[in-house]
Amino acid sequence: MSTEQAETRTFAPPEELVAQANVGPEVYDEAAADRLAFWEKAARRLDWAQEWDTVLDWNDPPFAKWFVGGKLNVAYNCVDRHVEAGHGEQVAYHWEGEPGDTRAITYAELKDEVCRAANALVELGVQAGDRVAIYMPMIPETVISMLACARIGAVHMVVFGGFSADALASRLDDSGAVLVITSDGGYRRGAPSALKPAVDDAVGRSPGVRNVVVVKRTEQDVEWTEGRDLWWDDVVERQSTEHTPEAFDAEHPLYIMYTSGTTAKPKGILHTTGGYLTQVAYTHWATFDLKPDTDVYWTAADVGWVTGHSYIVYGALANRATSVMYEGTPETPHRGRWWEIVQKYGVTILYTAPTVIRTFMKWGEDVPAGFDLSSLRVLGSVGEPINPEAWLWYHEHIGGGRCPIVDTWWQTETGAHMITPLPGVTTLVPGSAQTPFPGISAKVVDDEGNELADDSTGLLVLTEPWPSMLRTIWGDDDRYVDTYWSRFGTNVYFAGDGAKKDADGNIWLLGRVDDVMNVSGHRISTTEVESSLVGHPAVAEAAVVGASDPTTGQGIVAFVILRESGTDSGDELVQTLRNHVARDIGPIAKPRQIMVVQELPKTRSGKIMRRLLRDIAENRELGDVTTLTDSSVMNLIKEKLPAAPSED
Ligand code: WTA
Repeated sequence: MSTEQAETRTFAPPEELVAQANVGPEVYDEAAADRLAFWEKAARRLDWAQEWDTVLDWNDPPFAKWFVGGKLNVAYNCVDRHVEAGHGEQVAYHWEGEPGDTRAITYAELKDEVCRAANALVELGVQAGDRVAIYMPMIPETVISMLACARIGAVHMVVFGGFSADALASRLDDSGAVLVITSDGGYRRGAPSALKPAVDDAVGRSPGVRNVVVVKRTEQDVEWTEGRDLWWDDVVERQSTEHTPEAFDAEHPLYIMYTSGTTAKPKGILHTTGGYLTQVAYTHWATFDLKPDTDVYWTAADVGWVTGHSYIVYGALANRATSVMYEGTPETPHRGRWWEIVQKYGVTILYTAPTVIRTFMKWGEDVPAGFDLSSLRVLGSVGEPINPEAWLWYHEHIGGGRCPIVDTWWQTETGAHMITPLPGVTTLVPGSAQTPFPGISAKVVDDEGNELADDSTGLLVLTEPWPSMLRTIWGDDDRYVDTYWSRFGTNVYFAGDGAKKDADGNIWLLGRVDDVMNVSGHRISTTEVESSLVGHPAVAEAAVVGASDPTTGQGIVAFVILRESGTDSGDELVQTLRNHVARDIGPIAKPRQIMVVQELPKTRSGKIMRRLLRDIAENRELGDVTTLTDSSVMNLIKEKLPAAPSED
């Protein structure tokens, strides 16, 4: 053991978890002995209308087909089969609205609602394969809409409610959506926020959208387009609760989720049916040790991100979990809201992001200490590396020192957990995601793709296809190949993350190595923010970097050159530009800081040197500047640095 490890505290799994965990250490051996047989067994946890002939078709990499020839219905697997097995009275969701209103929805009720919504979609002419956009707050109808699409084979495309009208419009256009499901708004930070105006704006530019179905959540007035807009209550509530689910091919598209890449245009990640559901269900059951009869499970994330898709909706429901779903923000109406929810519902498993944990740390341990959190037994982390300090705080002040923390590394593209400890098996090393999931082959390689020995740093790759992998980028197979499968050949998936393997073989994720920033666990492309900034008439050139931030992981820092040197470059303009980006992309993309500069550091070949900009943004000594066209640029930039970042 190296000195570094000797100093690290590790945590062995609690004894009673070792004895009762859904999976033990044998799963690693089982998967290593026969990877495909292992996934095949995982697939058998679902109900298939027709069994597959071939587990994996990888004859044309990187285009994978899993469970070839198999047929199933995702909604049936998530809802109906539990009702048929006698669990109709079990609560599927304890939903908690931000203002304090609540709804408990049983599996039987969920089945009725999903059938009604499916019948409504059919009445509106939606067919299998059609794309349906969902732009909603965190309310039960969001889940019902997703399941209704899955039930009839329509492909849903959920857009996070924090995205702008422009972002929604480009996604409607790229996916070719025929229908939008939205609401008048939702509650956030103690007040209703609106969604319908953005939909009106975006749909006005998307001729392919025939109808907009609107759920009433708040009492806000909405603009209405007759013939196009329909109230959910008018079109869904009168439908029959009977709907016969059709079995779809294992490779039938299930959903598209847009995510930021290294270019300005977001990529539509396509997930399909059988492999996706197999891996989200299995990982949800194994990673969280989910016990459907006794656990109360809470993924505290938004359904608008992949974490919500896989672990609020599909994984949780496929395993017949009782979940908590919360609409609002953690500090509304007080900073103990989450802990009040844990206490109220007796939450046993909590899954959230490091950025939230760091925020709670800032608020102090007295807040959670005011509530009874003794029901908790497993904690999870996702979205960015969790620093050991935050890990230990989470372990101690939320988990009472007794709950294992599973730090799950995965991506929109991977669909499900890929690297994570298992709660009844792994001796935990705070800050490390540690071990590839059974049946997953993750490696750390050098620039040439050679696997590195323990105790070294390189790039993370996945060297075998996995069931819940993305199948392509919607409408752009070439970009799919180029982005993920070209750096080391068509058999190796390049994740875009740097990683270190320690002397014991544990994997530590080190963040993105491409131009993707991670702000509060949200992926934002530097290029996307740059193109928004240069879209403003005052800006000639822009360079954006992610600078480390104690709470959000990274913060967005922009350097801009103005069109006219005489333009007032004061605070007002900086505010205008920050708001411009927020309006263009969404509030999550609003730069933390914008610096107006005369020039940007470029290499002789004209590439902006982001590394140097990052050094400046993080107030570091500048590194090597010898490849700069003109190193005096750096002095110019330094002179322009404002004393402190502009805060909201
Ligand atoms: C980062 C979220 C370290 C990583 C599920 C990845 C993580 C990107 C972790 C995907 C983790 C996610 N430790 N980094 N446990 N989980 N990431 O697509 O950089 O929103 O590439 O999926 O988040 O973000 P995405």
